[in-house]
Amino acid sequence: MERRTKTVRETQDFARTLMGALRRQSPRKGALVLALEGELGSGKTAFTQGIAKALGIREAVQSPTFVLMRVYALRRPIAGFRRFAHIDAYRLGAADARRHLGLPALLADRETIVAVEWASRIRALLPPDAVWISFAHEQRRGLPVRQAGRAIRVRIPTHS
Ligand SMILES: Nc1ncnc2c1ncn2[C@@H]1O[C@H](COP(=O)(O)OP(=O)(O)OP(=O)(O)O)[C@@H](O)[C@H]1O
Ligand SMILES: [Mg+2]
Repeated sequence: MERRTKTVRETQDFARTLMGALRRQSPRKGALVLALEGELGSGKTAFTQGIAKALGIREAVQSPTFVLMRVYALRRPIAGFRRFAHIDAYRLGAADARRHLGLPALLADRETIVAVEWASRIRALLPPDAVWISFAHEQRRGLPVRQAGRAIRVRIPTHS
């Protein structure tokens, strides 16, 4: 699936639509993982903000680049989900994620939705059923999506 979004709003609306579709999908063993890939400034955080809004989270969701992870409690459960974790793996190795973020426990929790920016940095830790979404600017070739099947691409306009 490839989606072109002209504005941040459109990216966020797409996130909401996708969230609606994903939460109706077949049962998973653990967390619902959204693995976000793509160059700097290509809309990964904007997309994550759309997910957060769809989950009723009111706090301003910003890139957790320096804190690496933020966990938000949903005000009320939505489709069995109670928590939303936003991870920025840009500066993170798999060993760090395992040790410091307690990622394996988080990923085992069926009541959690996890969005990971720069997901390929911790690819080895992510479950096989993670939904890989790649972001790119319109005039660049997107990063190849290595996961077959459920790969989704979002393209945003190239900045002037
Ligand atoms: N269609 C669009 N969708 C999303 N963002 C857009 C769009 N058009 C322009 N933008 C702008 O592009 C930038 C995207 O930034 P964002 O922080 O979401 O990217 P990112 O992939 O998270 O970057 P980083 O790699 O630094 O984490 C924002 O400044 C946003 O305003
Ligand atoms: Mg970001």
